[in-house]
Amino acid sequence: MSSVIVVGSGLAGLTAAVRATDAGHRVTLVTKATLPESNTRYAQGGIAAALFPDDSVAAHVLDTLRAGAGLCDADAVEVLCAEGPARVRDLIRFGVDFDHDESGIARGLEAAHSRSRVLHSGGDATGAAIQRALVATVRQRARRTSPRPEIYSETGIIILEHTMLIDLIVHAGTVTGVTVLGPEDGARSLEADAVILATGGAGTLFKYTTNPTVATGDGVAAAWRAGAAVADLEFYQFHPTALAVPGTPLVSEAVRGEGAVLRNRRGERFMLGTPGAELAPRDVVARAIAREMAAQDGDPVLLDATALGRDLLETRFPTITAACRTAGLDWAVDPIPVAPAAHYWMGGVTTDVWGRTSLPGLFAAGEVARSGAHGANRLASNSLLEAAVFADRAVRALAFPRAELDGDSADHAGVSDPVPGVSPAFSVDFAEGFSRGKLQSVMWDAAGVHRSGAGLAAAAETLAGWTSPDPAHAAGLTVRQLEDRNLLDLARLAVTSALARTESRGAHHRDDYPHVRPDLARSVAWTQPTGLPRTTAKEAIAC
Ligand code: SIN
Repeated sequence: MSSVIVVGSGLAGLTAAVRATDAGHRVTLVTKATLPESNTRYAQGGIAAALFPDDSVAAHVLDTLRAGAGLCDADAVEVLCAEGPARVRDLIRFGVDFDHDESGIARGLEAAHSRSRVLHSGGDATGAAIQRALVATVRQRARRTSPRPEIYSETGIIILEHTMLIDLIVHAGTVTGVTVLGPEDGARSLEADAVILATGGAGTLFKYTTNPTVATGDGVAAAWRAGAAVADLEFYQFHPTALAVPGTPLVSEAVRGEGAVLRNRRGERFMLGTPGAELAPRDVVARAIAREMAAQDGDPVLLDATALGRDLLETRFPTITAACRTAGLDWAVDPIPVAPAAHYWMGGVTTDVWGRTSLPGLFAAGEVARSGAHGANRLASNSLLEAAVFADRAVRALAFPRAELDGDSADHAGVSDPVPGVSPAFSVDFAEGFSRGKLQSVMWDAAGVHRSGAGLAAAAETLAGWTSPDPAHAAGLTVRQLEDRNLLDLARLAVTSALARTESRGAHHRDDYPHVRPDLARSVAWTQPTGLPRTTAKEAIAC
């Protein structure tokens, strides 16, 4: 038995916590908000898996590789698609009630899938259903919910809510714990044999996002500051259709899968000339919408779902129907305004197919990780699957010394050796002029759907003018300040990566380099060379 800290409470974190407890490990689950809040909760379309007789793992692998635009790691894709069906069955055992139709489990079609293979629950409330089932499973295994973990039972998950990851603790190159900011008594250190990061993505980097406000990339930033390799940070996926109202709620691709069409303000279907039309790959549709918006003075385009009829819209898409209603829209009667928004980060902490990072003792699963399963562009509904598959694997990997695992290698296929990259410009406080809103605008304008060398260079200069707090002072910061520090570090890394990639590939599109360059079919990994000094926030608590 070993002690494990899991950071994050989406599908990956909850799965890791349950699996690790069931495997006999002592688990502490740390989450920034409450257990039910995560990116998972807002996922609509569903979870893709080759579970149906007319489908195959090989077909799912092929679709995933095609979407990844030459940057997927074939072994990670194979693992994802081959183990996916078993992990979906696990979810059913944990109590997720996937929708059924007359043929059995119902399935939807989303862009760039050659088969209908997307399972959903509650119509478009798949993430919420998964989150609910896993939170209940974790709570059944919880021994204590107190924020003071000094006394713990030998078994059962210690749940620390409203507790934010500050940094990783690194001893002689090995991760031995985390520093966290708790709700009551400030910063503290938690020590353990292993840390599994499951903190999700960083949609908050951008002015428009489908992500909740907790998605500030805390795990990627902390791992990078600790000296772990991170990669593919230039690849951020922009979902084509967020409702163009405050909060930009997601309008699932499954709506287009059911037959809804896109129109410009003159009512014309502008996707008809593109292969796949409205179900072309996500980046293609997002760019077409951005172009159309530019041609109509920035006005959003329209998603016309009126032909689907009120009954189907309300039963299959109750979440979107509610979001429309809140915004005063009736999508059974009128086309609704939609625009692209930041949705999913393909890049993150580099892991192998066992969720192991470049630092011993540190694992990562879900959106925080760059597992190699998504390459330059993620196939729709593969993200929940990735979280379930690789969280399970990371827990299995806890039990074995490195050499006993398959495919053990320091090299990650298709990834460059980590190179020293951007260094954090430490100072005690943000320079005058910084605000989160400004950072989000800079990122949206320069590193959004359309990018250019000049725009990225100007953004890099602006970002360099702001400084993030010295980690020695991090323990004195508020949650908001810690998040801003993470966002600033990550914005710099993403912009630097986007500047370095002088081509257009997958979700990364540069107007000055509009074509794929075969010589750049390789991920770029970054490390921060020194890693963090050991942080001494209060006395360390062994988990
Ligand atoms: C959607 O429902 O369109 C989003 C699904 C995904 O991000 O894979």
